[in-house]
Amino acid sequence: MAVVEFAPQLIEALRAAERVLIFTGAGVSAESGLPTFRDPQQGLWAKFRPEDLATPEAFARDPETVWRWYQWRRRMHADVAPNPGHHAIAALEARLPQATLVTQNVDRLHELAGSAAPIHLHGHLFRNRCADCGIAMPEVAPEIDTPPLCTSCGGLCRPDIVWFGEGLPAEPWEAAARAAQEAEIVLSIGTSATVHPAAELPRMAHRTGALVVQVNPQPTRLDPIAHNLRGPSAKILPALVAAVWP
Ligand code: APR
Repeated sequence: MAVVEFAPQLIEALRAAERVLIFTGAGVSAESGLPTFRDPQQGLWAKFRPEDLATPEAFARDPETVWRWYQWRRRMHADVAPNPGHHAIAALEARLPQATLVTQNVDRLHELAGSAAPIHLHGHLFRNRCADCGIAMPEVAPEIDTPPLCTSCGGLCRPDIVWFGEGLPAEPWEAAARAAQEAEIVLSIGTSATVHPAAELPRMAHRTGALVVQVNPQPTRLDPIAHNLRGPSAKILPALVAAVWP
């Protein structure tokens, strides 16, 4: 296997860094077998676009279809495990004096890899809440094909996920924005950096002088402001950890 090489300045910067923001997207879970958002959907759901299902309007119009899509995604997630990229991120967190992990992913692969407290900007796939009163609702077995009713108000159960057109939860967003403003280095991993406001984080950090390091096999809009490590995160990240802390 080809050896991955890193610029000596990058290795030195990571060794010296006090505060690092690790910002992840769907690409970090791709090698665990989860398709990213810009990949075509598979099987039964191939004719739908996530942008047409993951909205409050879609749920209001046809709650069962939206619910069944999430139940299908939950079943797909049940069999996946963290990949070497997730494990390398947990290793980075353990070695850096102050690392903040912020993810756009709703899966729980960072937690399963040992990351203690990732900040989930876009919610949690396996959690639910009432679409009307907002109260937290219990997990639902993945074969239940209709959304249960809220025991407090009779509203419909929905996944605790930030849909297109909805605002980000305040507390996670404020913690993420603070980490971006304080970071000396941002690692932007496996994200197309197109969905705002999350995609602002690396740009905010760059404006306050941080080094932005991007891990992605494809170019993104962050390319012009980033030190680009072109390749899959499950390969690049373990190599980076080994190069910085041999
Ligand atoms: N390693 C690293 N990056 C990868 C890999 C890999 N093995 N495979 C794909 N990628 C990259 C792609 O090149 C792409 O740039 O991951 C990125 C995935 O981009 P998106 O599918 O747009 O996912 P993300 O950036 O997380 O989307 C943001 O959009 O749909 C909403 O709320 C949803 O959180 C999601 C948000």
